[in-house]
Amino acid sequence: FGSLLSLVMGYLLGSLPSGYLAAQWLAGIDLREKGSGSTGATNVLRQVGKGPALAVFLIDVGKGTTAVLVARALELDDGWQVAAGLAALAGHIWPVWLGWKGGKAVATGLGMLLGISWPVGLACFGIFLTVLSCSRIVSLSSIIAALSLPLLMIMRFQGNSPPAYLAVAFAAMAMVLWRHRSNLQRLLAGTEPRLGQSS
Ligand code: G3P
Repeated sequence: FGSLLSLVMGYLLGSLPSGYLAAQWLAGIDLREKGSGSTGATNVLRQVGKGPALAVFLIDVGKGTTAVLVARALELDDGWQVAAGLAALAGHIWPVWLGWKGGKAVATGLGMLLGISWPVGLACFGIFLTVLSCSRIVSLSSIIAALSLPLLMIMRFQGNSPPAYLAVAFAAMAMVLWRHRSNLQRLLAGTEPRLGQSS
């Protein structure tokens, strides 16, 4: 029963539409129809502003971490903790409340990683920030951080990563890459906006 509860809780936490609500309340807009159409912090930054974007980022990180910690508090094993985290990612990407149109699982994914293995989460975030400071393109930073995730997980456990952790690294990478298809097209076409550009 606890395992099922942690999955449902994970999905519900992930589907909490912080970005959508912030944009709706503060700017009266539907984020799904503006900019990239994502309900994540990056699109909030573009459409609403820095403060709300930071708040949305922190809430979205918290959703991922909380999902894992709830599963851990229920004394579920690694596999279920990881599954609860992935359920949060699924909730964030495909929120039932918003017609399945959500975000791109970067902030929530970071939160999940911090809950599962904080050194891997911090390393991933470090890579994200490094690419961001060089390129000033959030999607590129997210894509490179996601690509580096399996390797970081392998390095963290010196090749002996628990199977569930290795699986979550590949699954989260795949989810983030899948959600950045349109960004990849814009990156290749040279039309992806940099920080500070609207859309
Ligand atoms: O965190 C999502 C980011 O990588 C891209 O967001 O709005 O530019 O598609 P966006």
